Amino acid sequence: MTTAAETSGSVSFDVGLVRQDFPSLHQKIRDRDLVYLDNAATTQKPQAVIDAISRYYGRQNANIHRGVHHLSQEATFAYERARARIRLFLNAADNVEIIFVRGTTEGINLVAHSYGGSNVKEKDEIVISHTEHHSNIVPWQLLCERTGAILRVVPVDDDGQFLLEEYAALLNDRTRIVAVAHASNALGTINPVREIARLAHDHGAVVVVDGAQGVPHLPVDVCELDCDFYAFSGHKVFGPTGVGVLYGRKSLIDAMPPYQGGGSMIKTVSFEETTYADLPAKFEAGTPHIAGGIALESAIDYVIGLGPERIAAYETTLLEYATNLLSEIDGLRLIGATAKPDRDHVGVISFVMEAAHPHDIGTILDTEGVAVRAGHHCAQPAMARFGVPATVRASLAFYNTHEEMDALAAGLRKVNEVFGG
Ligand code: ALA
Repeated sequence: MTTAAETSGSVSFDVGLVRQDFPSLHQKIRDRDLVYLDNAATTQKPQAVIDAISRYYGRQNANIHRGVHHLSQEATFAYERARARIRLFLNAADNVEIIFVRGTTEGINLVAHSYGGSNVKEKDEIVISHTEHHSNIVPWQLLCERTGAILRVVPVDDDGQFLLEEYAALLNDRTRIVAVAHASNALGTINPVREIARLAHDHGAVVVVDGAQGVPHLPVDVCELDCDFYAFSGHKVFGPTGVGVLYGRKSLIDAMPPYQGGGSMIKTVSFEETTYADLPAKFEAGTPHIAGGIALESAIDYVIGLGPERIAAYETTLLEYATNLLSEIDGLRLIGATAKPDRDHVGVISFVMEAAHPHDIGTILDTEGVAVRAGHHCAQPAMARFGVPATVRASLAFYNTHEEMDALAAGLRKVNEVFGG
């Protein structure tokens, strides 16, 4: 049997031990061991995250920021400690730059409404890439509809790589916002965010990063990336659904108007005039997902414990192994994802097969206990770029094993048998 440590070169990563922390991985699906390869859609949760949620509702449950009683103060402390932990994780300069939101989608919508609403005017330009998730396309289209701004799209090459020269040529003195994924959810391609930010800033534009697929796979340092906004979702980084984070550069978010109105985001309210709370409360109207924020800290702690660099290195070995296996399957075409040692892809393998439609492939794999996503992955323009309506996507996490890659390949050979490919 191949062990992770053997195949990871200098990386020592005991995947067997890691898997013990994830109860949901140890179950049978259709009488087969579950092989969970839909991590770009959502990740499984370590026991520490499940325990944090249970502890909150079982013992700490209270509303935050508004109670003098003990439980409220305990919950407030835990929630604010999570914020501080996330600041460290992202290397942001200040806790107030960490805004809790529902997820990446809400984070991007917040920027589009608040920053966009006050800084983008008719004929201004917003730049995105061709492989964005719909949540990093539609909010900008809506902003263009509201303001009369123009959406510009940076092309990608046949590997799905962001074309920096074409991007540089699109920038001009009307460019206000550049919004790109750290890594593509459909293809896994890592975008050169630091260079994208440098060029955007040369033109006075701000940079919004969709970090939904960055945070689970890559070390993230918002100072080093020099981005202005960075959004990610808790559930894609082994935390709960319904909670996520928007990092915003303090000088920008300080000047931005609130996104939603309600409790918590005000200083004073009268019918004549309302004044707003300081950061980050100004952007956190209403009772938040308290258990989610607290459990997100546990998820981040878990990731930090393993080490983002070690995670990235282990996943690279897995990605290379899987890509080699899949390359040998008759009639299988990898879309955009070519495993390269310099980690310009995270662990996402998108492919089509001559023998069957992606949904049929997904269904056959399911009978083998292998969970993948089949479809357009909320990235229809990316699919159009590669001339396919849909792909099969196997997306990896650090708890996946080389044996699971073998199971995926075996399932795909079965697809060829069933459909005569
Ligand atoms: N954004 C999630 C995905 O890529 C749902 O699958």
